[in-house]
Amino acid sequence: MPSLFSSYRLGGLTLPNRTVMAPMSRVRAAAGGLATPSMATYYAQRATAGLIVTEGLQPSLVGQSNPGTPGLHTDEQTDSWRQVTDAVHANGGRIFGQIMHSGRVSHSETTGFQPVGPSAVAAEGNVFTPSGPQPMPVPRALETDEVGEHVQSYAHAARRAVDAGFDGVELHGANGYLISQFLSSDANLRDDRYGGPITNRIRFAVEAAAATVETVGAARTGIRLSPGGGIWGVTEDDAGELNTALLTELARIDLAYVHLVGTADEDVLVRLRETWPGTMIVSPTTPGGPKQAGMSEAGHWLGLGADLIAFGRAFLANPDLVERLRSGLPLAPVDENTFYQGGDAGYITYPTYQHAG
Ligand SMILES: Cc1cc2nc3c(=O)[nH]c(=O)nc-3n(C[C@H](O)[C@H](O)[C@H](O)COP(=O)(O)O)c2cc1C
Repeated sequence: MPSLFSSYRLGGLTLPNRTVMAPMSRVRAAAGGLATPSMATYYAQRATAGLIVTEGLQPSLVGQSNPGTPGLHTDEQTDSWRQVTDAVHANGGRIFGQIMHSGRVSHSETTGFQPVGPSAVAAEGNVFTPSGPQPMPVPRALETDEVGEHVQSYAHAARRAVDAGFDGVELHGANGYLISQFLSSDANLRDDRYGGPITNRIRFAVEAAAATVETVGAARTGIRLSPGGGIWGVTEDDAGELNTALLTELARIDLAYVHLVGTADEDVLVRLRETWPGTMIVSPTTPGGPKQAGMSEAGHWLGLGADLIAFGRAFLANPDLVERLRSGLPLAPVDENTFYQGGDAGYITYPTYQHAG
Protein backbone atom coordinates (compact mmCIF):
# COMPACT_ATOMS: atom_id res chain seq x y z
CA MET A 1 0.00 0.00 0.00
CA PRO A 2 1.45 3.42 -0.93
CA SER A 3 2.14 5.94 1.79
CA LEU A 4 0.09 9.14 1.93
CA PHE A 5 3.45 10.91 1.84
CA SER A 6 4.82 9.29 -1.31
CA SER A 7 4.85 11.26 -4.54
CA TYR A 8 2.42 10.64 -7.36
CA ARG A 9 2.40 11.44 -11.07
CA LEU A 10 -0.92 13.07 -12.07
CA GLY A 11 -1.26 14.05 -15.71
CA GLY A 12 1.72 16.31 -16.32
CA LEU A 13 2.27 17.06 -12.63
CA THR A 14 4.35 15.45 -9.92
CA LEU A 15 2.52 15.67 -6.61
CA PRO A 16 4.90 15.53 -3.63
CA ASN A 17 2.32 13.64 -1.57
CA ARG A 18 -1.08 12.00 -2.02
CA THR A 19 -3.23 14.50 -0.15
CA VAL A 20 -5.80 16.60 -1.98
CA MET A 21 -7.46 19.67 -0.52
CA ALA A 22 -11.15 18.96 -1.21
CA PRO A 23 -13.23 21.65 -2.92
CA MET A 24 -14.91 23.92 -0.38
CA SER A 25 -17.11 26.93 -1.14
CA ARG A 26 -16.25 29.80 1.19
CA VAL A 27 -18.42 32.55 -0.43
CA ARG A 28 -15.82 35.28 -0.07
CA ALA A 29 -15.61 36.48 -3.67
CA ALA A 30 -15.72 40.21 -4.42
CA ALA A 31 -18.66 41.75 -6.31
CA GLY A 32 -18.85 40.38 -9.83
CA GLY A 33 -17.63 36.95 -8.69
CA LEU A 34 -13.98 38.01 -8.52
CA ALA A 35 -11.17 36.27 -6.66
CA THR A 36 -9.52 38.43 -4.00
CA PRO A 37 -6.10 38.84 -2.33
CA SER A 38 -7.45 36.97 0.73
CA MET A 39 -8.39 34.04 -1.49
CA ALA A 40 -4.83 34.03 -2.85
CA THR A 41 -3.50 33.94 0.73
CA TYR A 42 -5.93 31.16 1.76
CA TYR A 43 -4.97 28.84 -1.05
CA ALA A 44 -1.25 29.71 -0.91
CA GLN A 45 -1.24 28.85 2.83
CA ARG A 46 -2.33 25.33 1.85
CA ALA A 47 0.16 24.84 -1.03
CA THR A 48 1.83 21.82 0.61
CA ALA A 49 -1.23 19.77 -0.40
CA GLY A 50 -0.37 17.31 -3.16
CA LEU A 51 -3.16 19.03 -5.09
CA ILE A 52 -5.58 21.83 -4.23
CA VAL A 53 -9.06 21.74 -5.73
CA THR A 54 -10.75 25.10 -5.34
CA GLU A 55 -14.25 25.91 -4.23
CA GLY A 56 -16.88 25.57 -6.97
CA LEU A 57 -16.60 28.26 -9.69
CA GLN A 58 -19.70 29.02 -11.74
CA PRO A 59 -19.24 28.73 -15.52
CA SER A 60 -22.17 31.09 -16.19
CA LEU A 61 -24.35 33.47 -14.21
CA VAL A 62 -27.36 31.15 -14.38
CA GLY A 63 -25.08 28.41 -13.04
CA GLN A 64 -24.36 30.29 -9.78
CA SER A 65 -25.73 28.75 -6.60
CA ASN A 66 -24.96 30.89 -3.56
CA PRO A 67 -24.35 34.64 -3.42
CA GLY A 68 -20.66 35.41 -2.98
CA THR A 69 -19.26 32.50 -4.97
CA PRO A 70 -16.59 33.22 -7.59
CA GLY A 71 -17.05 32.74 -11.32
CA LEU A 72 -15.05 31.86 -14.36
CA HIS A 73 -17.10 33.29 -17.18
CA THR A 74 -15.93 36.91 -17.57
CA ASP A 75 -12.55 38.38 -18.48
CA GLU A 76 -12.42 40.20 -15.16
CA GLN A 77 -12.99 36.96 -13.26
CA THR A 78 -10.31 35.19 -15.29
CA ASP A 79 -7.82 37.98 -14.58
CA SER A 80 -8.69 37.93 -10.87
CA TRP A 81 -7.70 34.24 -10.55
CA ARG A 82 -4.11 34.87 -11.71
CA GLN A 83 -3.18 36.26 -8.28
CA VAL A 84 -4.41 32.99 -6.74
CA THR A 85 -2.68 30.57 -9.10
CA ASP A 86 0.53 32.67 -8.97
CA ALA A 87 0.53 32.66 -5.15
CA VAL A 88 -0.02 28.88 -4.99
CA HIS A 89 2.69 28.22 -7.57
CA ALA A 90 5.10 30.61 -5.82
CA ASN A 91 4.67 28.47 -2.69
CA GLY A 92 5.39 25.31 -4.69
CA GLY A 93 1.78 24.09 -5.00
CA ARG A 94 -0.56 22.78 -7.70
CA ILE A 95 -4.17 23.92 -8.15
CA PHE A 96 -7.21 22.72 -10.12
CA GLY A 97 -10.36 24.87 -10.31
CA GLN A 98 -13.68 23.15 -9.62
CA ILE A 99 -16.28 24.06 -12.25
CA MET A 100 -19.68 24.00 -10.63
CA HIS A 101 -22.91 24.65 -12.52
CA SER A 102 -25.63 24.71 -9.89
CA GLY A 103 -28.58 23.89 -12.14
CA ARG A 104 -31.73 23.95 -10.00
CA VAL A 105 -29.90 24.74 -6.72
CA SER A 106 -30.04 28.47 -7.40
CA HIS A 107 -32.38 31.43 -7.18
CA SER A 108 -33.44 34.35 -9.39
CA GLU A 109 -32.69 36.79 -6.55
CA THR A 110 -29.05 35.70 -6.77
CA THR A 111 -28.60 35.48 -10.55
CA GLY A 112 -31.49 37.40 -12.12
CA PHE A 113 -32.55 34.22 -13.94
CA GLN A 114 -35.00 31.43 -13.25
CA PRO A 115 -32.71 28.46 -12.51
CA VAL A 116 -32.49 25.74 -15.15
CA GLY A 117 -32.42 21.99 -14.73
CA PRO A 118 -33.05 18.75 -16.57
CA SER A 119 -36.73 18.88 -15.52
CA ALA A 120 -39.14 21.23 -13.76
CA VAL A 121 -38.58 19.55 -10.38
CA ALA A 122 -37.49 21.63 -7.40
CA ALA A 123 -34.60 20.52 -5.21
CA GLU A 124 -35.25 19.81 -1.53
CA GLY A 125 -34.47 22.33 1.17
CA ASN A 126 -33.64 26.02 1.14
CA VAL A 127 -31.17 27.88 -1.02
CA PHE A 128 -29.20 30.94 0.12
CA THR A 129 -30.18 34.22 -1.52
CA PRO A 130 -29.07 37.80 -0.86
CA SER A 131 -32.12 38.18 1.43
CA GLY A 132 -31.54 34.91 3.31
CA PRO A 133 -32.51 31.26 2.82
CA GLN A 134 -35.56 30.64 0.63
CA PRO A 135 -37.37 27.51 -0.58
CA MET A 136 -35.84 26.01 -3.70
CA PRO A 137 -37.62 27.33 -6.80
CA VAL A 138 -38.95 25.10 -9.56
CA PRO A 139 -36.34 25.26 -12.34
CA ARG A 140 -37.08 25.70 -16.02
CA ALA A 141 -36.49 22.42 -17.88
CA LEU A 142 -33.84 22.91 -20.57
CA GLU A 143 -34.99 22.39 -24.15
CA THR A 144 -33.03 19.65 -25.90
CA ASP A 145 -31.34 22.17 -28.19
CA GLU A 146 -30.27 24.30 -25.21
CA VAL A 147 -28.41 21.50 -23.43
CA GLY A 148 -25.31 21.86 -25.61
CA GLU A 149 -24.77 25.44 -24.45
CA HIS A 150 -24.58 24.27 -20.84
CA VAL A 151 -22.31 21.37 -21.79
CA GLN A 152 -20.01 23.86 -23.50
CA SER A 153 -20.02 26.18 -20.49
CA TYR A 154 -17.77 23.69 -18.66
CA ALA A 155 -15.30 23.70 -21.55
CA HIS A 156 -15.34 27.50 -21.83
CA ALA A 157 -14.67 27.87 -18.10
CA ALA A 158 -11.87 25.31 -18.40
CA ARG A 159 -10.27 27.39 -21.16
CA ARG A 160 -10.44 30.42 -18.89
CA ALA A 161 -9.02 28.38 -16.00
CA VAL A 162 -5.95 27.42 -18.00
CA ASP A 163 -5.58 31.03 -19.19
CA ALA A 164 -5.68 32.08 -15.52
CA GLY A 165 -2.84 29.71 -14.65
CA PHE A 166 -4.74 26.77 -13.15
CA ASP A 167 -3.08 23.38 -13.62
CA GLY A 168 -6.42 21.86 -14.54
CA VAL A 169 -10.11 21.69 -13.71
CA GLU A 170 -12.45 19.37 -11.86
CA LEU A 171 -16.01 19.13 -13.20
CA HIS A 172 -18.41 19.14 -10.25
CA GLY A 173 -20.52 16.09 -10.99
CA ALA A 174 -21.33 15.51 -7.30
CA ASN A 175 -23.64 16.69 -4.54
CA GLY A 176 -26.84 17.42 -6.46
CA TYR A 177 -25.67 20.16 -8.86
CA LEU A 178 -26.34 20.20 -12.61
CA ILE A 179 -24.34 17.13 -13.74
CA SER A 180 -25.64 15.20 -10.74
CA GLN A 181 -29.21 16.33 -11.57
CA PHE A 182 -28.89 14.85 -15.06
CA LEU A 183 -27.56 11.58 -13.59
CA SER A 184 -30.48 11.38 -11.17
CA SER A 185 -33.57 9.23 -11.57
CA ASP A 186 -35.86 11.78 -9.91
CA ALA A 187 -34.43 15.22 -10.82
CA ASN A 188 -34.21 14.10 -14.46
CA LEU A 189 -37.61 13.08 -15.85
CA ARG A 190 -36.75 13.86 -19.48
CA ASP A 191 -37.88 11.74 -22.37
CA ASP A 192 -35.27 12.94 -24.87
CA ARG A 193 -31.75 11.58 -25.32
CA TYR A 194 -30.65 13.11 -21.98
CA GLY A 195 -33.23 11.30 -19.84
CA GLY A 196 -34.74 7.90 -19.10
CA PRO A 197 -32.37 4.92 -19.28
CA ILE A 198 -28.87 5.07 -17.78
CA THR A 199 -27.23 5.46 -21.20
CA ASN A 200 -29.17 8.70 -21.60
CA ARG A 201 -28.81 10.05 -18.05
CA ILE A 202 -24.99 9.79 -18.21
CA ARG A 203 -24.88 11.64 -21.54
CA PHE A 204 -24.67 15.17 -20.11
CA ALA A 205 -21.73 14.22 -17.85
CA VAL A 206 -19.91 12.46 -20.68
CA GLU A 207 -20.48 15.34 -23.10
CA ALA A 208 -19.30 17.91 -20.56
CA ALA A 209 -16.17 15.87 -19.86
CA ALA A 210 -15.51 15.28 -23.57
CA ALA A 211 -15.94 18.97 -24.42
CA THR A 212 -13.54 19.92 -21.62
CA VAL A 213 -10.97 17.33 -22.69
CA GLU A 214 -11.18 18.61 -26.25
CA THR A 215 -10.56 22.16 -25.03
CA VAL A 216 -7.83 21.77 -22.39
CA GLY A 217 -6.73 18.13 -22.69
CA ALA A 218 -7.38 14.98 -20.67
CA ALA A 219 -4.38 15.57 -18.39
CA ARG A 220 -6.04 18.75 -17.15
CA THR A 221 -9.57 17.38 -16.68
CA GLY A 222 -10.96 15.56 -13.65
CA ILE A 223 -14.51 14.92 -12.45
CA ARG A 224 -16.07 14.60 -8.98
CA LEU A 225 -18.98 12.23 -8.38
CA SER A 226 -21.02 11.31 -5.30
CA PRO A 227 -22.60 7.95 -6.13
CA GLY A 228 -26.07 7.59 -4.60
CA GLY A 229 -25.41 10.75 -2.57
CA GLY A 230 -28.93 12.09 -2.23
CA ILE A 231 -27.80 15.67 -1.58
CA TRP A 232 -30.44 18.36 -2.24
CA GLY A 233 -32.94 15.57 -2.83
CA VAL A 234 -31.16 14.05 -5.82
CA THR A 235 -31.81 10.30 -6.03
CA GLU A 236 -29.92 7.71 -8.04
CA ASP A 237 -32.13 4.60 -7.84
CA ASP A 238 -29.42 2.59 -9.52
CA ALA A 239 -26.20 4.16 -8.19
CA GLY A 240 -23.94 1.13 -8.72
CA GLU A 241 -25.05 0.44 -12.28
CA LEU A 242 -25.30 4.13 -13.21
CA ASN A 243 -21.84 5.09 -11.98
CA THR A 244 -20.25 1.94 -13.43
CA ALA A 245 -21.73 2.84 -16.83
CA LEU A 246 -20.53 6.42 -16.46
CA LEU A 247 -16.96 5.44 -15.57
CA THR A 248 -16.90 2.94 -18.44
CA GLU A 249 -17.82 5.74 -20.86
CA LEU A 250 -15.43 8.23 -19.29
CA ALA A 251 -12.59 5.70 -19.56
CA ARG A 252 -12.91 5.97 -23.36
CA ILE A 253 -11.97 9.65 -23.30
CA ASP A 254 -9.48 9.25 -20.46
CA LEU A 255 -9.33 11.91 -17.74
CA ALA A 256 -6.69 13.04 -15.25
CA TYR A 257 -8.79 11.57 -12.45
CA VAL A 258 -12.13 10.55 -11.04
CA HIS A 259 -12.84 11.93 -7.57
CA LEU A 260 -15.37 9.88 -5.61
CA VAL A 261 -17.13 11.19 -2.53
CA GLY A 262 -17.76 8.37 -0.08
CA THR A 263 -21.52 8.58 -0.39
CA ALA A 264 -22.18 4.96 -1.42
CA ASP A 265 -21.62 1.66 0.38
CA GLU A 266 -18.03 0.54 0.38
CA ASP A 267 -18.63 -2.39 -1.98
CA VAL A 268 -20.08 0.03 -4.58
CA LEU A 269 -17.10 2.36 -4.25
CA VAL A 270 -14.65 -0.55 -4.53
CA ARG A 271 -16.44 -1.76 -7.68
CA LEU A 272 -16.10 1.75 -9.14
CA ARG A 273 -12.39 1.74 -8.26
CA GLU A 274 -12.05 -1.51 -10.19
CA THR A 275 -13.99 -0.09 -13.15
CA TRP A 276 -11.90 3.06 -13.45
CA PRO A 277 -8.45 2.36 -14.93
CA GLY A 278 -6.90 5.74 -14.11
CA THR A 279 -6.21 7.89 -11.08
CA MET A 280 -8.84 7.78 -8.37
CA ILE A 281 -9.21 10.33 -5.60
CA VAL A 282 -11.42 9.29 -2.69
CA SER A 283 -13.06 11.78 -0.33
CA PRO A 284 -13.66 9.25 2.44
CA THR A 285 -16.36 11.11 4.35
CA THR A 286 -19.62 12.67 3.30
CA PRO A 287 -20.28 16.39 2.93
CA GLY A 288 -21.93 17.63 6.08
CA GLY A 289 -21.11 14.42 7.94
CA PRO A 290 -20.01 14.73 11.56
CA LYS A 291 -16.76 12.82 11.08
CA GLN A 292 -14.07 14.53 9.05
CA ALA A 293 -11.43 12.71 7.05
CA GLY A 294 -8.21 11.87 8.90
CA MET A 295 -5.28 9.42 8.81
CA SER A 296 -7.28 6.26 9.49
CA GLU A 297 -9.74 6.94 6.65
CA ALA A 298 -6.78 7.75 4.38
CA GLY A 299 -5.02 4.49 5.19
CA HIS A 300 -8.21 2.51 4.74
CA TRP A 301 -8.86 3.89 1.26
CA LEU A 302 -5.24 3.73 0.08
CA GLY A 303 -5.46 0.05 1.05
CA LEU A 304 -8.60 -0.34 -1.06
CA GLY A 305 -6.91 1.13 -4.14
CA ALA A 306 -7.42 4.90 -3.94
CA ASP A 307 -4.44 6.80 -5.38
CA LEU A 308 -5.07 10.12 -3.65
CA ILE A 309 -7.09 11.10 -0.56
CA ALA A 310 -9.10 14.32 -0.27
CA PHE A 311 -9.43 16.15 3.05
CA GLY A 312 -11.94 18.97 3.39
CA ARG A 313 -12.51 20.40 6.85
CA ALA A 314 -9.12 19.19 8.10
CA PHE A 315 -7.39 21.31 5.41
CA LEU A 316 -9.69 24.25 6.13
CA ALA A 317 -8.59 24.39 9.78
CA ASN A 318 -4.99 23.21 9.29
CA PRO A 319 -3.07 25.00 6.54
CA ASP A 320 -0.09 22.74 7.39
CA LEU A 321 -2.22 19.57 7.37
CA VAL A 322 0.38 17.53 5.49
CA GLU A 323 3.08 18.28 8.06
CA ARG A 324 0.70 17.62 10.95
CA LEU A 325 -0.34 14.25 9.54
CA ARG A 326 3.25 13.31 8.71
CA SER A 327 4.50 14.17 12.20
CA GLY A 328 1.46 12.95 14.12
CA LEU A 329 0.75 16.44 15.44
CA PRO A 330 -2.74 17.27 16.75
CA LEU A 331 -5.22 18.77 14.30
CA ALA A 332 -6.93 22.07 15.05
CA PRO A 333 -10.74 21.85 15.19
CA VAL A 334 -12.77 23.53 12.48
CA ASP A 335 -15.05 26.48 13.30
CA GLU A 336 -18.26 25.88 11.37
CA ASN A 337 -19.55 29.38 12.15
CA THR A 338 -16.98 30.91 9.82
CA PHE A 339 -17.53 28.55 6.87
CA TYR A 340 -19.68 31.03 4.95
CA GLN A 341 -19.40 34.13 7.11
CA GLY A 342 -17.22 36.26 4.84
CA GLY A 343 -14.13 38.20 5.92
CA ASP A 344 -10.70 36.94 6.88
CA ALA A 345 -11.57 35.52 10.33
CA GLY A 346 -11.77 31.74 10.16
CA TYR A 347 -10.44 31.97 6.63
CA ILE A 348 -6.79 32.99 6.60
CA THR A 349 -6.39 33.15 10.40
CA TYR A 350 -5.88 29.42 11.12
CA PRO A 351 -2.21 29.19 12.20
CA THR A 352 0.32 26.50 11.43
CA TYR A 353 1.24 24.24 14.35
CA GLN A 354 3.00 26.17 17.10
CA HIS A 355 5.82 24.09 18.56
CA ALA A 356 6.39 24.73 22.26
CA GLY A 357 9.53 26.67 23.20
C1 LIG B 1 -17.51 24.74 3.95
C2 LIG B 1 -17.65 23.62 2.95
C3 LIG B 1 -17.88 23.92 1.61
C4 LIG B 1 -17.96 22.90 0.65
N1 LIG B 1 -18.09 23.24 -0.68
C5 LIG B 1 -17.95 22.27 -1.63
C6 LIG B 1 -17.85 22.62 -3.01
O1 LIG B 1 -17.84 23.81 -3.41
N2 LIG B 1 -17.73 21.61 -3.91
C7 LIG B 1 -17.71 20.29 -3.52
O2 LIG B 1 -17.59 19.40 -4.38
N3 LIG B 1 -17.79 19.93 -2.21
C8 LIG B 1 -17.87 20.88 -1.27
N4 LIG B 1 -17.87 20.53 0.07
C9 LIG B 1 -17.72 19.11 0.45
C10 LIG B 1 -16.23 18.77 0.74
O3 LIG B 1 -15.48 18.80 -0.46
C11 LIG B 1 -16.07 17.38 1.38
O4 LIG B 1 -16.60 16.40 0.52
C12 LIG B 1 -16.77 17.30 2.75
O5 LIG B 1 -16.37 18.39 3.58
C13 LIG B 1 -16.44 15.99 3.51
O6 LIG B 1 -15.04 15.84 3.63
P1 LIG B 1 -14.25 16.12 5.03
O7 LIG B 1 -14.77 15.15 6.03
O8 LIG B 1 -12.80 15.82 4.69
O9 LIG B 1 -14.50 17.54 5.41
C14 LIG B 1 -17.84 21.54 1.05
C15 LIG B 1 -17.65 21.23 2.40
C16 LIG B 1 -17.53 22.24 3.34
C17 LIG B 1 -17.27 21.88 4.78
